[in-house]
Amino acid sequence: MIDLRSDTVTKPSDGMRRAMAEAVVGDDVYGEDPTVNLLQERSAETFSKEAALFVPSGTMGNQIAVKVHTRPGDEMIIEERCHIFNYEVGASAIIAGVTIRPVKSGDGSGILTWDDVESAISTDGIYDHTQTGLLCLENTLNLAGGRVMSAERCAELAEKAHERGIPVHLDGARIFNAAVASSTTVSELTKNCDSVQFCLSKGLGAPVGSVLVGSHEFINESRVWRKRLGGGMRQAGVLAAAGIIALDESPKRLHEDHTNARTLAEGIAEIPGIALDLRTVETNIVIFDVAGTGRTSAEICSDLKEKGILASGFGTRIRIVTHLDFHADKIQTVLDGMRVSCAGS
Ligand SMILES: Cc1ncc(COP(=O)(O)O)c(C=O)c1O
Repeated sequence: MIDLRSDTVTKPSDGMRRAMAEAVVGDDVYGEDPTVNLLQERSAETFSKEAALFVPSGTMGNQIAVKVHTRPGDEMIIEERCHIFNYEVGASAIIAGVTIRPVKSGDGSGILTWDDVESAISTDGIYDHTQTGLLCLENTLNLAGGRVMSAERCAELAEKAHERGIPVHLDGARIFNAAVASSTTVSELTKNCDSVQFCLSKGLGAPVGSVLVGSHEFINESRVWRKRLGGGMRQAGVLAAAGIIALDESPKRLHEDHTNARTLAEGIAEIPGIALDLRTVETNIVIFDVAGTGRTSAEICSDLKEKGILASGFGTRIRIVTHLDFHADKIQTVLDGMRVSCAGS
């Protein structure tokens, strides 16, 4: 199978498996796992933040951040396509007791401006309005096709939010893709953010895990919430060992995924009936609309599956994601399969 459903489908490399087998471990709930501690130190350093916390998943990292930054009854501003709003099964309402104010980006790109955010802020918080307690950003923005928010835009949004007393969390599940695409560092891209969650298990190729970074105070409180949510993993060094390799080695090769995504996108854009704006393809995600083919995304994905190609269909759109287990020599096979499946023949 050529699996393009997500960059979460990768298998750990031989090097990762070896490191996992040989990892020096301890009880991480006591803070005594040297491998977890090393991963956390490296992560904090890479993001120029004070501290870091290894968590089982991106969802847990995001939800801990939402909980720690807000009070029950607060409202959180978020771009309408963000993962925290769409794909974390209502967790913020249950865990943090916050409501969500989804905001559209004025230009439709998914990349918010301060004007987009400011018009959604509420500081009343007494009678009619719910107090804004948090601004959540996502970089790259998955549902917008992996688009990148520039370091300048992110720093400006965070700075202005702070002027209004609002903390900022960044869902950086694919922040290393953003850094590679914009030739900058993850530290620059997340400069003024109070917390960042990044995934080891997506483009970076580790089997499990995410890391939350922020101030000492924020991470100390996050550690309590991780335990409350059942994320205290004991000898988690066996997982962190793969995470360290992912962090050290994988960013260097992400440009290959971006090149493969672009080549695929250029080929797909030529298929009759497909609408694909190539300007949206900045990293490893390609989203296109198939309404013009006269076939549904479910029909096309099902035909592709019979040809050994997996893609995700939602509504009239299909998403494909490149990753370290997808190689350029399979691009033509995917394009041929796509052409036939879109034509329904
Ligand atoms: C942008 C984004 N944030 C967060 C997550 C959640 O990560 P996890 O699946 O590890 O919970 C995902 C997962 O696909 C994602 O794409």
